[in-house]
Amino acid sequence: MINVLFVCLGNICRSPIAEATFRELVKKRGLQDKISCDSAGTAGYHIGQLPDQRTIKNAEKHGLKLTHRGRKLSVADLDAFDHIVVMDEANFKDVNDLYYKTKHKTPSADKLFLLRDHDPETRGIKEVPDPYYESEPFFEDVYQIVWRSNEALLDYLIEKHQIVKTEE
Ligand code: 4NP
Repeated sequence: MINVLFVCLGNICRSPIAEATFRELVKKRGLQDKISCDSAGTAGYHIGQLPDQRTIKNAEKHGLKLTHRGRKLSVADLDAFDHIVVMDEANFKDVNDLYYKTKHKTPSADKLFLLRDHDPETRGIKEVPDPYYESEPFFEDVYQIVWRSNEALLDYLIEKHQIVKTEE
């Protein structure tokens, strides 16, 4: 099983929708017994909470029900997950610092990277923008970014790990 962890700051806006869209894409490919995912925040502001109402509402528009409860990234996560996929540069620095401090080395580019490294339409923008202080349409922009980036990320992981669907 390949495990992917999506990380943002609060774990109520970006990473829960990144997790849910990735899981949906994995399911569409019939690979749910090969690839799993979760999400976490670098901060502990919203531990135990459901995602932001605006994230939930926008996900519902796309037929996705969000049930994730906010949690803070732990040191154990650094070993438990094959890939840690962050939303922005601040998340990258926070996870990188934790990894460096606890493992006494820098994570490989394959272990820790920005989701938009895989965005086919990135046009040079490397971050999934934080919608927390923005209006509702921003949440749809985030959805579109994470959906298309995750399609490409999944293709990359299937190729990298030579993942094939188990025939029934
Ligand atoms: P997220 O958005 O990192 O995408 O979940 C945020 C959620 C909460 C806060 C900031 C960003 N906050 O400051 O509480």
